[in-house]
Amino acid sequence: MAINLAVDLGAGLKLKNPVLTASGTFGYGTEFADFIDLNRLGGFIVKGTTLEPRQGNDSPRMVETPSGMINAVGLQNGGVDHFIEHKYPSLTQYTSEVIVNVSGASVADYAKVAEKLAPLDKIHAIEVNISCPNVKAGGMAFGTTCEGAAEVTAALRKAWPRHLMVKLSPNVTDIASIAGAVEQAGADSVSLINTLLAMSVDVERQRASISTVTGGLSGPAVRPVAVRMVWQVARRVSIPVVGLGGITCADDALQFIMAGATAVQIGTYNFVDPQVTVKTIDGLEDYCRRHGVDDINKLRGII
Ligand SMILES: Cc1cc2nc3c(=O)[nH]c(=O)nc-3n(C[C@H](O)[C@H](O)[C@H](O)COP(=O)(O)O)c2cc1C
Repeated sequence: MAINLAVDLGAGLKLKNPVLTASGTFGYGTEFADFIDLNRLGGFIVKGTTLEPRQGNDSPRMVETPSGMINAVGLQNGGVDHFIEHKYPSLTQYTSEVIVNVSGASVADYAKVAEKLAPLDKIHAIEVNISCPNVKAGGMAFGTTCEGAAEVTAALRKAWPRHLMVKLSPNVTDIASIAGAVEQAGADSVSLINTLLAMSVDVERQRASISTVTGGLSGPAVRPVAVRMVWQVARRVSIPVVGLGGITCADDALQFIMAGATAVQIGTYNFVDPQVTVKTIDGLEDYCRRHGVDDINKLRGII
């Protein structure tokens, strides 16, 4: 039986399969080229990119937690000009979609990054991070109110001509309302979840485990929260939903798809198994075959 794994996120963003990598956990993709064939991926989402270069937060900025980790990397990156000059050229060789994750300290910053990326033909989509808990200005500040989320989305709708994906923060009371505001403001899709605000204490040293005290929790520990939020958002909006948070295998990915996600992203688990993405793609096909499903899209939102 021929099985279709291709999905359409709308506004020109078509993936050969529903598996993407999550920003900040997969570098610029090329770091994983020795482990997997990057052309097998639906696409990869590169590191958070800002207008100016950023050093990120001081070490320690990562700590392992039960079934997950807390990070406070703080959007370390070389800035958008560095991305365009040094990273983008090597990404044009891939048949998978390349999506740039965009962050800013102000609405104007976000728009300037998008304007600089707009001439790059290979970048069919940007993912707007309005949900980073690890930076003082910007990031999550925009993602926790409907007004802030809509303001950034509307500015990017003007600055960016192709597919606009907006990444939502789980650190809110009602994520479905934020998703609705972002849809109204012109987003083509929403992705969720970013990390959950968390904290860990090193009791021997009698101080917080990471330099910023609080950070973002990711990995399998967050998955049930993420699946619940994807289910709530998918019932609220009509644009496609991209689900992520703690995915380690095809069954995990299917939880998100059945809850309403069109595509999924895999983040933290790339650190555990750099081949998790291709194993997940193979696992999705195997699941469809075992269950007599000829098109993965038929499983979307069945819960
Ligand atoms: C080390 C690290 C760095 C991250 N950097 C970014 C980032 O730059 N931009 C962003 O939108 N999300 C970033 N994230 C969040 C992930 O993309 C993802 O939303 C989150 O980790 C949940 O998925 P997971 O449990 O599969 O990792 C980062 C996560 C980790 C662990």
